[in-house]
Amino acid sequence: MSSLSPLSLFDPFPLKDVTLRNRIAVSPMCQYSATEGVINDWHYAHLAGLARGGAGLVIAEATAVSPEGRITPGCAGLWNDDQTEAFVPAVAAIKAAGAVPGIQIAHAGRKASANRPWEGDDHIAEQDPRAWQPIAPSAIPFGANLPRRPRAMTKDDIHRVQQDYVAAAQRARAAGFEWLELHFAHGYLAQSFLSPHSNRRDDEYGGSLENRSRFLVETFEAVRDVWPENLPLTLRLGVIEFDGREQTFEESIELARRFAAKGLDLLDVSLGFNIPGAAIPWGPAFMAPLAERIRKEAGIPTATSWFINDPQQADALLREGKVDLVMLGRALLENPHWPYEAARALGVDKAAWVLPAPYAHWLERYRPRRDVAA
Ligand SMILES: Cc1cc2nc3c(=O)[nH]c(=O)nc-3n(C[C@H](O)[C@H](O)[C@H](O)COP(=O)(O)O)c2cc1C
Repeated sequence: MSSLSPLSLFDPFPLKDVTLRNRIAVSPMCQYSATEGVINDWHYAHLAGLARGGAGLVIAEATAVSPEGRITPGCAGLWNDDQTEAFVPAVAAIKAAGAVPGIQIAHAGRKASANRPWEGDDHIAEQDPRAWQPIAPSAIPFGANLPRRPRAMTKDDIHRVQQDYVAAAQRARAAGFEWLELHFAHGYLAQSFLSPHSNRRDDEYGGSLENRSRFLVETFEAVRDVWPENLPLTLRLGVIEFDGREQTFEESIELARRFAAKGLDLLDVSLGFNIPGAAIPWGPAFMAPLAERIRKEAGIPTATSWFINDPQQADALLREGKVDLVMLGRALLENPHWPYEAARALGVDKAAWVLPAPYAHWLERYRPRRDVAA
């Protein structure tokens, strides 16, 4: 644990050689707006704006490790030099605004080859030239809006995808990212290996927890070998499916312990989204109790997101020792300056949080005068 005393939202967060200026992270959010996986001006404005709002960490969207690993044709990628170079200005902009640049790398598995959320959120029709063949541990479709049957992966496929993760991690570092998150949640490839709903393999990658987690553990180990030891390597894990059976939360605690022993620096606690119609108990910070159990029982720093919208609520999650970092998504899309406003709402001493000088000077020394008529 980084500290035994109660934490608050505006405590710096040192992890490995990186220190976040506060405990607020921008949760990764796909923009579905890249071309051939290459990010553009939209992403620069988006990421820089979020960093400028005061978050300590900005994690760029789920970025595919291979073309077939994209969710949609608009997803960002990190499998070639053009994509890597396009991230360099984004990293620079995030750093210039005082935040740490992070990225999530991902493979969409059986949820790949989909239309953008605002263009249907369903699988692209098979005969459409933009479509491609999704792959998965077993040839079992997700169902509902994503009915396309994936091709079951061979062992060669498995090893190739693991190498794609390694190469994408190296590219992320080459682009300047200082924090790496592996996307092992939300029903994408890694999650679908872990879940017995989607993994019916009878080789060493299916069956027992040991086998179902093998793809995840091997991928993590391979990335750990190439990602610098002094920089945070984290993963987002779907720790629960809310289906009342199958992959249990107890299994996830055990898995978190194993990852911790293998050098995981922080677990971003999320959920499965691996079966349509799961009974998800939506509500304010509803994943935080699970993050707390993992933090305490697996002895690893945790983060979580989902309906953390209010500064007092976010601060309480830290003070109560439930998480080490809060991840915000939609609240920051609505208001990138949420961290700045939260600091004021919590009455945080200005010395305890940081905005770069061109802003801090005016906002702290010369507060806007609202009492002077124009
Ligand atoms: C537009 C959008 C895109 C998202 N893309 C990703 C993603 O790329 N990777 C991921 O792990 N989660 C993704 N999510 C989930 C968020 O990271 C976050 O966990 C979720 O929105 C819950 O947090 P919130 O209640 O603060 O929005 C996305 C959410 C939104 C709203």
